[in-house]
Parts: sequence; structure tokens; C-alpha cells
Amino acid sequence: MARATIQHFRDKKQKGQKLTLITAYDYTFGRIVDEAGFDGILVGDSLAMVVQGLDNTLPVTMDEMLYHTRLVSRAVEKSMVIGDMPFMSYQVSVEDAVRNAARFIKESGAQAVKIEGGSEIIPQVKAIVRAEIPVMAHIGLTPQAIYRMGGYKVQGRTEEAGKILIEDAKKLEDAGAFSIVLEAMPSALAAQITASLSIATIGIGAGADCDGQILVLHDVLGLFERFVPKFVKKYAGLKTETLNALKQYKEEVETGIFPSTKESFQ
Ligand code: KIV
Repeated sequence: MARATIQHFRDKKQKGQKLTLITAYDYTFGRIVDEAGFDGILVGDSLAMVVQGLDNTLPVTMDEMLYHTRLVSRAVEKSMVIGDMPFMSYQVSVEDAVRNAARFIKESGAQAVKIEGGSEIIPQVKAIVRAEIPVMAHIGLTPQAIYRMGGYKVQGRTEEAGKILIEDAKKLEDAGAFSIVLEAMPSALAAQITASLSIATIGIGAGADCDGQILVLHDVLGLFERFVPKFVKKYAGLKTETLNALKQYKEEVETGIFPSTKESFQ
């Protein structure tokens, strides 16, 4: 399969085929996720929490995001690699936004960028798209706005709030975004947004009617247990499996079972 492009995202939406996305943050998992055949790999700013151990996504820097995106890009051949624009890399000015989006393409090997926000970031989205850089938008629960939202809360629950999200989605499509992440909102609202757009919606806690789904890799694999949102489905228990493997290795060293002649040179 050739590398997934923005046309591939559009075609899958038109054909009613679900888009599959997941995050990754390094070379080893980038390879595994690519081999699994996902349409897109987001190097999400969630790495601040699941890789760096921070309380939220706000502190992660452009240089750190570029570093991790580079590691993933080095491994990935078929999926679209999307770099996540970190807090304050696009909010201050349109010029900042274009320069930083371009750094993801030039310095980290990404094929697109993701940017959080609604109508307030339309000038940034237009300018990045004008610079020939594909943009994935992100509305609903936008973790970079955690302090305004008062925590990681489901968005769009009132009629008024839902209306704003519907309008924001349309504005982002008109601004040139090629797809849009819908995070933590009622399924019926996400279904309405999905039906009203010609670009693909990618849900995370937004129900089954989105054009595709994304989850955080460490949640899917059961590696990160500090904070597990309701919308996560755990497909493996790697924290437990890893712990058991490490305990066994330690015990075998202590009891002299490892290394045996098999792992030794004659
Ligand atoms: O940072 C991230 O991983 C994200 C996805 C969860 C959509 O923004």
C-alpha cells in the first residue's frame, strides 16, 4: 500500500469506510503501528502525560514534539504521520503557526499537523493550508484548554454549546482542514457534525458514527493507568505483562538461572 494521503482520507469518507488512527511517540512503536496498517499515526502532545509523566499537555515544547515526531517518521512508511502542534506554538500569531507547522514538515518528516481549537484559530488554519501543509483540526474537549474548561469534561452537552461546535466544524472545513478530531462529546452531536461535513471526522469519545476513530497507544495497550478516560477500550494488559517479565528476569539473575550456557560464549 502507498502512503496514506489526504485524498485517501477523503476517499474513505466517501466510500463509508472507517478511518483508523492511533498515537505513537517513538521508533519501535511507530514500526509496529505502521505494520498494523493504520491510516494515520498522530504524534500527539499526549506524550507530555504518557511519556514525560507530566500532569497535562501544556508544558511540552516544539523541540520535544519535533524530536518524537522524527523518531516515529523514521519508522513509518505507509501511515500518514501527523505532528501535533503544542500549546503556544500557534496561538500567539498566524506567523508563528505557519513557521511551527512548517518545522513539523521540514525537520520531523510529518505529512500533516493537528491543531486544537474552533473559530478563534481559523486565520491560522487558512494560513497553514495556504502554505501547502495539510491540517487536521480538533474540537470538543481540547486538552490545551483544560484550565478554561475546568478539567477533562465532555463538551457540547447544551443546545447552545452543541450549536457552537457544529458551526466551528463547518468553519474549519471551509478554512481547508482535511479532517477533524471530535473529542469527548455526545454521540448524537458528533453524528450530526459528521453528516454535515464532507471532510472526515475522527472520534475519540464521540461515538460510533464518526468517520474514523483515534485512541492513545498507551491506553489501548494498557500501559498507562494513572488516568483512564471512560472512552478508552484496553486491548492488552502490557503493564502487567511487562512487570511480570521484569520480575522473572530479576529473579533469574538473583537465583543464577540467567545467564545459562545458551546465553553465554564458549
Ligand atoms: O494528543 C493526543 O494524543 C491527541 C489525541 C488523543 C486526539 O490529541
